[in-house]
Parts: sequence; structure tokens; C-alpha cells
Amino acid sequence: MHEQSYTSSILSTAQVTVASQPIIVALDFADTKALRALVDQLSPALCRLKIGKEVFTREGPRMVEQLMHKGFEVFLDLKFHDIPTTVAKACVSAAELGVWMMNVHALGGRRMMREAVERLEPLSGKKPFLIAVTLLTSMSDSDFSELHLMGTLKSNVLRLASLAKESRLQGVVASAEEAAAIKAACGRDFLVVTPGIRLETSPSDDQSRTMTPLEALKQGADFLVIGRPITQSANPLQTLEAIH
Ligand code: C5P
Repeated sequence: MHEQSYTSSILSTAQVTVASQPIIVALDFADTKALRALVDQLSPALCRLKIGKEVFTREGPRMVEQLMHKGFEVFLDLKFHDIPTTVAKACVSAAELGVWMMNVHALGGRRMMREAVERLEPLSGKKPFLIAVTLLTSMSDSDFSELHLMGTLKSNVLRLASLAKESRLQGVVASAEEAAAIKAACGRDFLVVTPGIRLETSPSDDQSRTMTPLEALKQGADFLVIGRPITQSANPLQTLEAIH
């Protein structure tokens, strides 16, 4: 474990308790040249980076290694969801790459999450944070009702967060709208990583449950995943600094 490195750098203010560096920039790019140009502007002192399915499928582990070589901590957002053995082995492969954080879908269930935790335990050296996606932040109430699951979207998010905690994962990905309730249910140390972050001036794109960076931190988010509001802005570095 990165000796829970974020906790040692926690700053308390009257209003918000935040990791000193809570921003994770989502690198969702169709064009590797554009991705590299953006990364060259950023610095590990300002943000961590998130590699998702689009870039990983095209570039593979090589891209992750290159970003880490530049000093960035990488969140490998592949949202594994498969039978327990397959997910556990995929998590071991990601841990061996040296990523800082990775995730699985909590909908894969307790046995899937448990097996991943148990397979990671014997590994030596720094271990990544393993967190679970509850329900996607792109999911609206009407998308959710089509699934015919019991309960409300929010009650399902809370149930999935509790299941992840019981399975000994270190946190969840959830919308900022649910962050306070997750902290109340799962405890302060249980990480809440929130995508769906939008500046007052940014379009919501395909996200449904969005919040501004400050509001998300006030709700208890530990880390903010921010993609298009930074990567598609006219001056990504300036936008990142402005958010800080
Ligand atoms: O561009 P935007 O800020 O919407 O990017 C959000 C990022 O967070 C995307 O990479 C998306 O895959 C990811 N994500 C999400 N909702 C989740 C989990 C991850 O939007 N529940």
C-alpha cells in the first residue's frame, strides 16, 4: 500500500478536508499525439493521471509505464467485471505494472471483490489502491429504472459501497451527489473518488450527476476525476491551475 500516502498529506480547512493534491486528470484521447502534448504541459505536482479503456486498448501497458516514468501516479481505470479468478488475475497484472490505483465493478459482487483483495495481499512492495465502481456517473434515474433493480439509484450506490467496504476494498468511484452518504455509511477513511466533475462554465457532456470541484470536496470526495473540462479546454494547464 502506498502507506496510504494521501492521508499523510491531508490538509484540514474550516470547510473542507482534502488531499493536498486531489485532482486526477482523465486522459481519454483518440489521438496519442494530443495526449502526449497535454501530458507534457502537466506536472506530477499538480495532478495524477487516469488511463481508461480507450487509451489502454490502443497503447497498452507501455503508455502507463511512460507516464510513470515521467513521475506521474496512474489510476488504471479498466473497471474489471468478470468471474472472480479472471478479475483477481487482472488486478495482479495491474499491480505488477506499478499503478497507484485501479478499479473493479462492485456489481461483480462480494466473491469477485474478495478474491481480488486476497490475490493482491501477498504481493510485495507498494500495492495500488483497489476501489470499486458503484453505479456509473453517466447513469440517470431513468437509465437506472430500465434496469429493474430493487430500490433507488442512491440506495443501490450505498449498498454497493458497503459491499465494497465489507470486501476490504479501499474505496469507491461514485458521483459527488452520493459522497456524503457514502462517507457516513462507510467511514471517513473509505475513499470516495468522484468523476462527473464540471466547472460552472463547462457542458455536462454525457454525464448526468455532476458537481463543481469545490462542491464535490465539500461533499467529502477525496479525489476528483476530471476529464473534458481540462483536456478540452483552450488552455488545459491554466484550467488545472484555476481549479487548484
Ligand atoms: O470527461 P469527463 O470528466 O466526463 O471524464 C470522466 C472520466 O471518469 C471518464 O474517463 C470516465 O470513463 C470516468 N468514469 C466516470 N464514471 C464512473 C467511473 C469512471 O465518468 N463511474
